[in-house]
Amino acid sequence: MSRVLLSVDQLSASYGPIRALRGVSFEVREGETVSIIGANGAGKTSLMRAISGLLPLNGGSAHFLDQDIRRCAPHQLARMGMLHVPEGRGTLQTMLVEENLRLAWEIRPTNVPFERAVGNVYRRFPRLLERRAQLAGNLSGGEQQMLAVARAIINRPQLLLLDEPSMGLSPRFTSEVFRALRELRDAGVSILMVEQNVSRALGLADRAMVLAHGEFTLEGSAAELANDPRIMASYMGQGDVYVS
Ligand SMILES: Nc1ncnc2c1ncn2[C@@H]1O[C@H](COP(=O)(O)OP(=O)(O)OP(=O)(O)O)[C@@H](O)[C@H]1O
Ligand SMILES: [Mg+2]
Repeated sequence: MSRVLLSVDQLSASYGPIRALRGVSFEVREGETVSIIGANGAGKTSLMRAISGLLPLNGGSAHFLDQDIRRCAPHQLARMGMLHVPEGRGTLQTMLVEENLRLAWEIRPTNVPFERAVGNVYRRFPRLLERRAQLAGNLSGGEQQMLAVARAIINRPQLLLLDEPSMGLSPRFTSEVFRALRELRDAGVSILMVEQNVSRALGLADRAMVLAHGEFTLEGSAAELANDPRIMASYMGQGDVYVS
């Protein structure tokens, strides 16, 4: 078995009286892609934010590479190799497209020079090449989402946390983003993804969990869940969790 990158144990978190997470436990191992599926308000974003140190825990724990995330600032976790692409973009709005990519590269510089790394990104996302000298904040929503994923690609994290990468994307942009994620996965990057597009989420993942009201109600291999009538009944064909 490959080593555990992320270990989450009985994690809970609240917003005042609202209990967003009620004792969630799971692991992500090196090389694995894991998807979390759930309806609006299930707690998916809260889970991602708690894991990356942005939402205080009020119970349980989370460890990345055996380090307690409560003892690490979000930028330290990023330097250690856990990159969070938050819901709704996650780009530096007042910086240029290319500056966004350079800063993401500088968090974890590799022996691939920036010029070559950015060239690879532009080949994959020609729209970003056209827009390289624009402010990120002036890109369309879909282009910003693409830039957020491009930042993850150039950063080469060990573990990528993705909150709804297809949100707001046209079918063509969704395909481009998922093609890039597949390449990252195949290059050995571990991915923990929240995604409402169930068929895309299960298509990319090895395993998946269903989150409802802050708890996991179902888990299994992506292939098992894709054929599970409960997934079909709960999520497929619904407006908020859909299949394309
Ligand atoms: N800042 C906040 N203050 C108060 N309550 C919040 C806050 N953020 C989230 N919540 C509540 O916590 C619960 C979980 O929200 P969360 O954003 O984690 O859901 P989600 O699964 O990501 O939903 P979506 O699919 O709509 O993105 C919801 O009931 C939500 O209303
Ligand atoms: Mg969310």
